[in-house]
Amino acid sequence: MKTLKIANIPGDGVGKEVVPAATEVLHAIAELHGNLKFEFTEFPWSCEYYLEHNVMMPEDGLETLKEFDAIFLGAVGNLELVPDHVSLWGMLIKIRREFEQVINIRPAKLLKGVRSPLVNPKDFDMMVVRENSEGEYSSIGGNIYKDEDEIAIQNAVFSRKASERAMRYAFDLAAKRGKHVTSATKSNGIIYSMPFWDKVFKEVSKDYPDIKTDSQHIDALAAFFVTHPDKFDVIVASNLFGDILTDLGAAIMGSVGIAPAANINVNGKYPSMFEPVHGSAPDIIGKGIANPIGQIWTAKMMLDHFGEEELGSTLLDIVESVTNDGFLTPDIGGTNTTKEVTDEIIKRIKNYKAAAVTEET
Ligand code: NAD
Ligand code: IPM
Ligand code: MN
Repeated sequence: MKTLKIANIPGDGVGKEVVPAATEVLHAIAELHGNLKFEFTEFPWSCEYYLEHNVMMPEDGLETLKEFDAIFLGAVGNLELVPDHVSLWGMLIKIRREFEQVINIRPAKLLKGVRSPLVNPKDFDMMVVRENSEGEYSSIGGNIYKDEDEIAIQNAVFSRKASERAMRYAFDLAAKRGKHVTSATKSNGIIYSMPFWDKVFKEVSKDYPDIKTDSQHIDALAAFFVTHPDKFDVIVASNLFGDILTDLGAAIMGSVGIAPAANINVNGKYPSMFEPVHGSAPDIIGKGIANPIGQIWTAKMMLDHFGEEELGSTLLDIVESVTNDGFLTPDIGGTNTTKEVTDEIIKRIKNYKAAAVTEET
């Protein structure tokens, strides 16, 4: 029996609603496999935890997490309790960095039965590879002077190593997909980091002669996401550009509530972390209407990560059969609850298993 030990961190807001839902789905899908088992251990680390302990996670939290095969996280952030930069740098960004989860992969594609807000979305299917360790998210800087002269300085850090690593990941991915990589740049306005990014992109692309490339300024690229999303295959972007592009990618899919993501530790030293694109969704907490699909699709990415691609595809097919039959939460135009959508997915996983068993006998 293959047993996967998963650290569950529901975190804040709707994270507490969608992580339990996706966990139930993972138990069901493991049964479908027959030889796979998930062992979940839940950690209450969150903004509420911060109020009690003055830290987002215990001092030995990373040591604890290190022992797991993966981390399954919901969302972090509750502005009513803790400033965002404190909660996010105290947990989400801390785990990404300390565990060298240097690549964030975020697919954007149409799901059957989910309407895109675009008039003519065609059939897009793209993958954003987001540099996840540095760039515009840097702790170098500070505030100088005071009052009306006060200035906040925020440095961006672009190393050859990290930029190249993200780009190579994107090219390797494109080699297995549509063989096209688009680089998100802004070298017309940002004069040090972005021309450097372009230079590294050109150098790396020479090693992949079979893969077509183009470079688009982030402003134009954002517009193309809306006007021609079907033209993209893999997009490689810096940390902030990737962040913004993937909420946009989620929006053209129909809702940020359905978009999945994976923070990948590429050197195998630490666990990878699976958490959807969306945040804690403060405006819908406790209403029972959070879309569980972002977290469930994220679970599919975790299955893929563990080499269970077939099971992952089956799970996504089942999710699509559910959306296609009109089981939709309000963010994608339906009236169903988190529980109704989750229960329907689990029911169909069980039916799928029953059908497979009948076929065998
Ligand atoms: P958000 O993604 O939480 O919400 C944006 C909009 O999307 C809201 O209208 C929300 O209701 C909706 N939405 C999000 N998830 C949904 C779901 N599963 N189903 C249905 N609708 C959903 O973004 P925000 O409002 O900018 O951030 C809220 C908090 O979350 C902040 O504290 C922010 O810092 C944090 N945040 C955390 C993460 C993370 O932990 N990975 C990601 C983004 C934002
Ligand atoms: C995301 C989030 C985080 C990010 C925030 C909450 C720090 O928006 O995972 O997309 O910007 O990386
Ligand atoms: Mn984001």
